[in-house]
Amino acid sequence: MLWRLVFRLVLTRLDAERAHHVGARMLRVAGHVPGLRRWLGPRDPRLRVTALGLTFPSPVGLAAGFDKDAKLVRGLGALGFGFVEVGTVTADAQPGNPRPRLIRLPDDRALVNRMGFNNGGARAAAERLRRRRTGDGLVVGVNLGKTKVATDAVADYVTSASLLAPLADYVVLNVSSPNTPGLRDLQAVDQLRELVRAVRPVCAGRPLLVKIAPDLSDEDVDAVADLALAEALDGLIATNTTTARRGLRSAPERIEAAGAGGLSGPPVAERSVEVLRRLRARVGDRLVLVSAGGVESAEDAWARIEAGATLVQAYTGFVYGGPLWARSMHRGLSRRLDRAGLARIDEAVGRAEAGENPANSGKNVD
Ligand code: FNR
Repeated sequence: MLWRLVFRLVLTRLDAERAHHVGARMLRVAGHVPGLRRWLGPRDPRLRVTALGLTFPSPVGLAAGFDKDAKLVRGLGALGFGFVEVGTVTADAQPGNPRPRLIRLPDDRALVNRMGFNNGGARAAAERLRRRRTGDGLVVGVNLGKTKVATDAVADYVTSASLLAPLADYVVLNVSSPNTPGLRDLQAVDQLRELVRAVRPVCAGRPLLVKIAPDLSDEDVDAVADLALAEALDGLIATNTTTARRGLRSAPERIEAAGAGGLSGPPVAERSVEVLRRLRARVGDRLVLVSAGGVESAEDAWARIEAGATLVQAYTGFVYGGPLWARSMHRGLSRRLDRAGLARIDEAVGRAEAGENPANSGKNVD
């Protein structure tokens, strides 16, 4: 309630990127409040998930893009996330695209962004991760992309991975952001195979995942899934933002004015779930599937888990949901576990597909 008021009266009057910076400053303060993670963090042991050789205190994570430079890990941990994905980091520092590059579509609780991987580069991020205090149980992944001007994409990822993988709990190859020319071409299996084979040896044994776009055709989703199995990837993240503009409630002028870029939030949910289901049907439990795209509520997270996701992530839902978002997700998931009569949340992974779940379960909660 209070967040909605602050959001409406203060933050929506600021340009979205300025609001992000205000939020980031508050997060840095939150990171220094003693005991905050103990209060806001996941406390229900049933939410603990063992995956990728790691123990996640909860399956609810912050998706990549929010903390591109590993400056906010402590604050995000304090707000209670089970895991945080830092990045996208590129080998070299770069300014990103000209502003405005982050636009709200409040009628859809959505965002459009064309940030273009603004970040301080892999060395600076590595320095921060090296200084990070651990021991709070928070899992920290690192998401890697390509420097815009780099001509050798593979070499660029290899540089970043060598610097960052040893400091991360898991590594993600982001080949799905729409705002770096040519990046999405790396999803083509031949290119992706070459990339994975080059990066894996410098990953210091860390789990390696690939993050894909919701705009892939079904055949391409299948091809990536097959490649992931053949190359023994550890997991897939589905999905990034979409370049489509379907099913929006916002006024057409507003959508037009937002301009090009990746759309996130509820409008991407339907396709994200479709891609998740498709992946699950193809790979079963041989890969860890991480679902992102329009997750706003505990009910959304539960549905993704039942559809085969071991972990879920959000960016836009957190922006609109506010600082207590992770806590409310955890409370909702605990209640959902009570209702389902399960002892642990990982028992729910893939239940929908196994047919154990009545079709209407999941309605009218939270
Ligand atoms: C993103 N996302 C993103 N993903 C990624 O892999 N690297 C990145 O740098 C970014 N940057 C970024 C910036 C902004 C402003 C947004 C809104 C999103 C995509 C994000 O991680 C996620 O995959 C999608 O936004 C879908 O999830 P939500 O936002 O609907 O929960």
